[in-house]
Amino acid sequence: MPTRSHRCDVRLPIPAERAFAMLVEPSSIRAWWGASRAIVVPRQGGDWVAAWGADEDAPEYVTAATITAFEPPHRLRLADFRYVARAEGELPFDGRALTTEFTILASDRSDCVLRVEQSGFPCDATADAFFAACEVGWTNTLAGIERVAKGEVALAREGVAPPVIPVLETERLRLRAFRLADVGTYARHCADPEVMRFLGGRIWSRTESWRHLAMLVGHWQLRGFGMWAVERRSDGVLLGRVGCLEPDGWPGFEIGWLIGREHQGQGYATEAARASLAWARDVLGKDRIVHLIAAGNLASEAVAKKLGARPAGNAEVHGMPVVVWESRS
Ligand SMILES: CC(C)(COP(=O)(O)OP(=O)(O)OC[C@H]1O[C@@H](n2cnc3c(N)ncnc32)[C@H](O)[C@@H]1OP(=O)(O)O)[C@@H](O)C(=O)NCCC(=O)NCCS
Repeated sequence: MPTRSHRCDVRLPIPAERAFAMLVEPSSIRAWWGASRAIVVPRQGGDWVAAWGADEDAPEYVTAATITAFEPPHRLRLADFRYVARAEGELPFDGRALTTEFTILASDRSDCVLRVEQSGFPCDATADAFFAACEVGWTNTLAGIERVAKGEVALAREGVAPPVIPVLETERLRLRAFRLADVGTYARHCADPEVMRFLGGRIWSRTESWRHLAMLVGHWQLRGFGMWAVERRSDGVLLGRVGCLEPDGWPGFEIGWLIGREHQGQGYATEAARASLAWARDVLGKDRIVHLIAAGNLASEAVAKKLGARPAGNAEVHGMPVVVWESRS
């Protein structure tokens, strides 16, 4: 049977990762769709369900679908739709043929275009009213998504929805989000004069390390990228931090590294930085990546060289002169 589809786009002032997260986080879905409840099993083959109506046991409307493509941060496809509408009754055609595909086109790191395409509506008159309602409905819904992305609609739960911090795995390492339990080890690394020698030269108190970890986690929220905790896969030990960094006023998009003294010299910084570089290039589309290294930091220079970076200029961070090493793809 011939089918028809409709499509609309909206530009969002957030990175693609955040836009994708908004499509699969129940708190976000409730905010942009006005749903009373949402449940998502965020994986290929998972469920994606939203319900409307004050009475939890007798919702006015339920839409349930299966996730048939889960490709963060660029593509989410929902199919096999099942609808329950208490007032209108069943759909006059088979809703299982419908698909809704979200495509996120990243333009740069700070914004993206979200496209929604709904397909599979029969061309005959049975689907006319539903097709028209969906066409208008999705235009309004995208406006809702834009308002949530701009922060004009508060998310319904406490705090702001956390960003999805990806987990990267290499042969020996797992790069993951920092968590509260990491504070002790991280504070120990930052209280080591050898580790801090070229990072300002002053050791940090536990409170300073805690605040710095909070900055690293918050960096993901504000920028859509950030540093990972580097964990050894074989025993879960936290080795240090490696990843992307570009706080306000930074002289470029940096990939940086710090490994606790007892774990240095085993290639961990290089292995983690290679995975970070690949992620920055593939996911963020970065082609110019810098490493800011104080003169005399030979170990750090050695890591930069192994990554293929070259000195390309000078800059200052926190009043400290650094050499800008540059990796280009
Ligand atoms: C820089 C740092 C992250 C490297 O971590 P790592 O896991 O030991 O790094 P890798 O093992 O992948 O590589 C280290 C390289 O430095 C070399 N190296 C170490 N100390 C060196 C020294 N004093 N002089 C010359 N080369 C040195 C090692 O030989 C190795 O190179 P190789 O593989 O060619 O032999 C780690 O030393 C560190 O955390 N330092 C303190 C924090 C810091 O300064 N961070 C960088 C800020 S720009």
